[in-house]
Amino acid sequence: MCVQYKKHFRNFFREGNHMKPIGPLMHEHRLIERMIEIIKREVEQINNKKIVDTTFIHSVVDFIRIYADKTHHGKEEDLLFRDLEKKQLSEEHQKIMKELIDEHVYGRQKVKELVEAMELFTTGYTKTPKKIASILEEISSFYPKHIEKEDKHFFFPVMEYFSQKEQDSMLEEFYEFDRKMIHEKYRSVVEMYEGEKL
Ligand SMILES: [Fe+2]
Ligand SMILES: [Fe+2]
Repeated sequence: MCVQYKKHFRNFFREGNHMKPIGPLMHEHRLIERMIEIIKREVEQINNKKIVDTTFIHSVVDFIRIYADKTHHGKEEDLLFRDLEKKQLSEEHQKIMKELIDEHVYGRQKVKELVEAMELFTTGYTKTPKKIASILEEISSFYPKHIEKEDKHFFFPVMEYFSQKEQDSMLEEFYEFDRKMIHEKYRSVVEMYEGEKL
């Protein structure tokens, strides 16, 4: 197991020296929850003052796209769910996994809608920020339910399908996945501007 992961998550889900791959995922949930609390406060601000902090909304879009979706949902879908697909899952776990995948799609759709609503608002096409507030509200009510389903009804029981060796190698893959993410993010920024500025 990676030293960095071990060090960083030493208080999470240890069984002797063994840490489960759901440790880092649940740790990431806690940061997403903190962002959701800030989003809720922003919804109140928009509704009360009719002012939109566009810089903050751009940060929300970046946070959800890169952290909550690519980094977090990415590890869930590309590694955990991928490996669960190879197991004989109970009907209940199959059902929940399908719901979780559908919910990730819903989350992506909401961010897309948020970007579109922001474009309309910042270009002056839409005069009120009502749509932005309502999408932010949908996002802030969606994530806690999704997280609760994973934390309380899925992550722990599905670990039972994996041996300790399989869990350790999944954790290694998680580390590698995270390590690459920052490089992917900024390569895509450069590639986007190369396309635009050439
Ligand atoms: Fe998820
Ligand atoms: Fe999650």
